[in-house]
Amino acid sequence: MTPTAAQPTCPLPILRTVEELRAQVAAWRDAGLTVALVPTMGALHEGHLGLVRRARERADRVIATVFVNPTQFAPHEDFDRYPRDEAGDAAKLASAGCHVLYTPGVRTMYPEGFATAISVGGPAEGLCGTFRPQMFGGVALVVTKLFLQALPDVAVFGEKDYQQLMVIRRFTRDLDIPVRVEGLPTVREADGLAMSSRNAYLGTGERARAPELYRALTAAAEALAQGGEADGALTAARSRIAEAGFGTIDYIELRDAETLEPVTRVTRPARLLAAAWMGKARLIDNVPVIPAG
Ligand code: PAF
Repeated sequence: MTPTAAQPTCPLPILRTVEELRAQVAAWRDAGLTVALVPTMGALHEGHLGLVRRARERADRVIATVFVNPTQFAPHEDFDRYPRDEAGDAAKLASAGCHVLYTPGVRTMYPEGFATAISVGGPAEGLCGTFRPQMFGGVALVVTKLFLQALPDVAVFGEKDYQQLMVIRRFTRDLDIPVRVEGLPTVREADGLAMSSRNAYLGTGERARAPELYRALTAAAEALAQGGEADGALTAARSRIAEAGFGTIDYIELRDAETLEPVTRVTRPARLLAAAWMGKARLIDNVPVIPAG
């Protein structure tokens, strides 16, 4: 018989209430420790774990949150089928050096009678803000709540959701929330596909074609960095994405890297952002465009 090592039932402490979270943070503060927060919706992959590792470099203690936030999904979207795997997530977080998992229930975040909304303009306008009009209000609401519940020194988010990162930076600043917001470059598979929990929706053939989104963006970004006009570069990228078998292209746009205002030619750092459907998966991606010379 092969001897089996005793398995710990839970690889890291799991907190489910605001009271537990606040008590944990207060104990760390009493001990003079700094705190980082990594908000996620779970179904964790290497991209999320990179955020946890960066958070560890920035603070003494790291809290990851897993909460599939209903207020950022429209009724027809994938809230119900969004992948959920608490045990797997907890094991991955522990292996990346996370100290605590905070995973509140829907009623903890949105108690009976909840009646508050946050509306963000500026970087929330256009792009995903047009195609998923409920999204950034929901993100602003849940991230504000998580910030106020945990009161971390710093919070780390991925640049994969670049517009989301800019929106979070904006409302954190506008609302004087004393949390530093740090963004981390997108983590990609070996073939360039941006890591995403939603890649799980791709069939085998779709998965093979999906990296073409990134390749098309990279080629367009090179042309734009050399001073090319947005119109030509974006038309070429659009054709390449369509030829790769993507269905609807929600958008492919060139924006200022900071304000996210539309630009037609790159004279200062810009960002090329796209969202397109491959089968049932809506994939988003973006790349920096830095003017050459
Ligand atoms: O990027 C995500 O996973 C979510 O939008 C976030 C920031 C955790 C808010 O629910």
